[in-house]
Amino acid sequence: MKEKIIIEGGKKLTGVLNISGNKNSAVAVIPAAVLSGGKCIIKNLPNIKDVYHLKDLLEKLGAGVEMSDGGTMTVDGSTINSYSADSEAAKQMRASYYFIGGLLGRFKKAEAPFPGGCDIGVRPIDLHIKGFEALGARVTIEHGLIKAEAEELKGAPIYLDFASVGATINIMLAACLATGTTTIENAAKEPHVVDVANFLNAMGANVKGAGTDIIKIKGVKELKGCEHTIIPDFIEAGTYMIAAAATRGDVTLKNVIPTHVEAISAKMKEMGIEIFEYEDSVRVKCEKKPKAVNVKTLPYPGFPTDLQQPMVVLLSTADGTSIVTETVSESRFKYVDELKRMGAKIKVEDKVAVVEGAVNLMGTSVYSTDLRAGAAMVVAGLIAGGETIIGNIKHIDRGYEFLEDKLRSLGAGIRRVELD
Ligand code: EPZ
Repeated sequence: MKEKIIIEGGKKLTGVLNISGNKNSAVAVIPAAVLSGGKCIIKNLPNIKDVYHLKDLLEKLGAGVEMSDGGTMTVDGSTINSYSADSEAAKQMRASYYFIGGLLGRFKKAEAPFPGGCDIGVRPIDLHIKGFEALGARVTIEHGLIKAEAEELKGAPIYLDFASVGATINIMLAACLATGTTTIENAAKEPHVVDVANFLNAMGANVKGAGTDIIKIKGVKELKGCEHTIIPDFIEAGTYMIAAAATRGDVTLKNVIPTHVEAISAKMKEMGIEIFEYEDSVRVKCEKKPKAVNVKTLPYPGFPTDLQQPMVVLLSTADGTSIVTETVSESRFKYVDELKRMGAKIKVEDKVAVVEGAVNLMGTSVYSTDLRAGAAMVVAGLIAGGETIIGNIKHIDRGYEFLEDKLRSLGAGIRRVELD
């Protein structure tokens, strides 16, 4: 039996919804806790599969981990007795590679398998390795296992050819306990990079400049336990903003930092969609067919690549033709074939998709090729005529907490079933 999501399309989303903790922050902060020999209390974690995978990986390293309701995890790093992340569990997700930066930083030795994660093209980790080597580590890759070790880690200047989120965070982790100062130039500026830096500083690290192009990490002797609350998930928020507009609804999202969704808000305003920004919430109201616009994904603060997929569904309902250019991920249009089976009219040439608007999508059985493609299928199902059955929803469960409950609370006709 396989779990599927079934959606009866055509219902407007209206009401108020609370946004959960940021998945891409959570999956970096949890492994970062290995840097401390004390107790780290991490709050506002989203209830998603990746969090439980990381709990499992921490326990296999010997850490004590307790999870309480409401998304609080307590990690006791004093009992960690291994520097090798369990291969099978680590392969399930890309973020397991943060254990390399964390374990190398604390024990000067680390092992982890080549990371798994969403199939959105070649996802190299050469910039991570370049950073570890700049700090003085020897990095080898044997039989799919990444091994890093160093007699000593010394602070160094590191320039990233691409403002890679993963590499920026992983180098920050490895540099915290190094001797001397590390400078990361062309660093990623995503909100979750800042959140991880704040977590490290709460443990006693000395990280400055997170959120700008240049991050300076001054090595310290040791890191202690701390308490940290994960920031809201701006990609989850953006997904629901897009769903609200696509269904011509009126939704207020709470626990949102409006500046984090600035790129999405600006693009939706350009489409003629009403966006109201408050201190910690955003309201989306769309009563008429939005205008077609062009979208180019860029590292933060540009339009996020993680919202490219649901955005294409919204653009399919717009008045006119839109051009969507994907500059961050290597190949992130695989889901378009599934959308076309619902009647979407999209032409993809390499990194560019030409999206015809004013299309009436029709429900059918579709497949979720990755996490955000799954989100796109859900948005498509919400607006399609008839019933849409979405398979391979394990991807969706990795990144969206209580998706059906949240959408049902806004009036969606959505349920999860076990089907052959
Ligand atoms: C993080 O992936 C996110 N995942 C991704 O979200 C997100 O799409 C991506 O950042 C961009 O925002 C997590 O945080 C767990 P990158 P990551 O390193 O760290 C090049 C989701 O849906 N690159 O910024 O892998 C390469 O071209 C997931 O939540 C190198 O060349 O992103 C890559 O396509 C999907 N060498 C681009 O940077 C490297 O060593 C972006 O990668 C690393 C990256």
